[in-house]
Amino acid sequence: MDGPAASGKSTIGLALAQRLGYLFFDTGIMYRAVTWAAVARGIDVRDAAGAGALAKTLDIDILPPGNATDGRHSTVLVDGVDVTWELRSSAVEQHVSAVSAHADVRAALTQQQRQIGLRNSAGSAERPGIVMVGRDIGTAVLPEAPLKIYLDASPMERARRRHAELAARGRDVSIEHIHADILARDAYDSSRAVAPLRPAADAIHIDTTGLSPEAVVARILTLVYAAGT
Ligand code: DC
Repeated sequence: MDGPAASGKSTIGLALAQRLGYLFFDTGIMYRAVTWAAVARGIDVRDAAGAGALAKTLDIDILPPGNATDGRHSTVLVDGVDVTWELRSSAVEQHVSAVSAHADVRAALTQQQRQIGLRNSAGSAERPGIVMVGRDIGTAVLPEAPLKIYLDASPMERARRRHAELAARGRDVSIEHIHADILARDAYDSSRAVAPLRPAADAIHIDTTGLSPEAVVARILTLVYAAGT
């Protein structure tokens, strides 16, 4: 499942995975983890070689949320340290598009994501299936996926959703600010040279503007059953 920032990929992907008993994997977490580590270590986010070397060596672990009651979908450890909420900080939001545009960063993370996808794909010994979300899952990470969804929503609706998410965690950022940020990130993610945000040719588009998460999940479940995945 691919789509722009705040198009509902995590909410829908997680609900879908729970309904199907599949593993849920939000690949944006990995780009955020590399970005967080670059900022924490003083590596210039525009330094392609430095960011690439970091992505190759960083130990990123994504675990189930366990007993945490703070609304997290997973717990993210970077070199053993819990950075789950740091990955949503404004420093990470600001720099993650730049870090994720570097070819070496993408090569390192895409390879890991593909392995996780293949290990957990439907019919494998370990898991019954996987819902993987990001920007290039259908085009670069798992082009052979049996069902590809491209989720979208109007920029203002996406800004409203992100605003509500942040407000629920006590962060007061204006909708106008979030809207501008989302437009900037969309432009950056869609225009980068390597694996830009783009629907796969065989992806099914769903515009979630005005739709409830339940309605979107129900629609995708119908597609999953029809695809026999
Ligand atoms: O989905 P998100 O907002 O957590 O993603 C953060 C950034 O990571 C996003 O701006 C683009 C990048 N990303 C990517 O380039 N490829 C992916 N498969 C997932 C995320």
